[in-house]
Amino acid sequence: MSTRLSSAPRTDAAHQSSLMGEPAAARPSEIQPGEAPDARQDPQAEQDIVIRVRDLVVGFGDKTVLDHLDLDVYRGEVLGVIGASGSGKSVLTRAIIGLIPKRQGTIEIFGENVDTLSVEARRAMERRWGIMFQHGALFSSLTVKQNVQVPMREYLDLSDELLEELASLKIAMAGLPADAADKYPSELSGGMTKRAALARALALDPDVLFLDEPTSGLDPIGAGEFDELIKTLQDTLKLTVFMITHDLDSLHAVCDRVAALARGKVIAAGTIAAMLTTEDPWLRAYFQGPRARAAIARPAADDPSTAG
Ligand SMILES: Nc1ncnc2c1ncn2[C@@H]1O[C@H](COP(=O)(O)OP(=O)(O)O)[C@@H](O)[C@H]1O
Ligand SMILES: [Mg+2]
Repeated sequence: MSTRLSSAPRTDAAHQSSLMGEPAAARPSEIQPGEAPDARQDPQAEQDIVIRVRDLVVGFGDKTVLDHLDLDVYRGEVLGVIGASGSGKSVLTRAIIGLIPKRQGTIEIFGENVDTLSVEARRAMERRWGIMFQHGALFSSLTVKQNVQVPMREYLDLSDELLEELASLKIAMAGLPADAADKYPSELSGGMTKRAALARALALDPDVLFLDEPTSGLDPIGAGEFDELIKTLQDTLKLTVFMITHDLDSLHAVCDRVAALARGKVIAAGTIAAMLTTEDPWLRAYFQGPRARAAIARPAADDPSTAG
């Protein structure tokens, strides 16, 4: 976690706190009045919030899916987003990246309110995140390499040689063999399709990676390998990862914190250890049911306080 601080925040603290509109006094006691808050000593200081959602309302017709939702995503963390099927996890992701309009609320990304961006600033922001959609969503008529090059062609002005090299690099980073580059999606196994989608999400060297159920449909070994890959990439590239998952093993293996969605809100956010003490019936069933106990008991669990 401490390594995240070396991934130099790009926004300046004064600018950012003015955007946040909250007095420093709202933060825990270590910041005294008159004392300049030193964000480098406070891992959860304002400037370490990469995505800040407040009072978000999203709906379709008469139906309200997200109902005054608040959420923070910290720089350098892997946040696991959980919730029952249909609770709005994918809608939340799409609303954050602007694919679904919101009815109310504010979304700040990299310290900037998305509603106030110029077209150019918006495009610059879009270059800083990568998305792996729930169902892979590769273009079936394009090869893996061509799929990876789609965002590069859209956002970067590169020569064909450079596009080739960069695509090969991303394909290797996602753990695919070089000969996968010229295959079409229909020729790939489930695990390879996920890796190809991940390679495309990494195309623009993002700061933030959105993963919508990245291991669903994989067998446990394939899912475990994919989790390891995500963790390794997050460590080496200093990524912030927003990961929707139903997979309890993934939560234990890669997530620093968990945010639980229910009734249109984030009803709890914190470490898995904190989730284990919750009183909410759905969360209790989720984290303390038989499948949860099996996941916790597994030796791979990286949090000693929840093992055994
Ligand atoms: N484009 C849309 N139009 C209408 N309703 C939608 C749309 N997208 C999602 N919904 C509804 O929003 C709710 C949340 O969906 P979703 O975010 O996909 O759930 P999940 O948590 O399983 O990802 C569901 O009831 C779904 O039917
Ligand atoms: Mg979904």
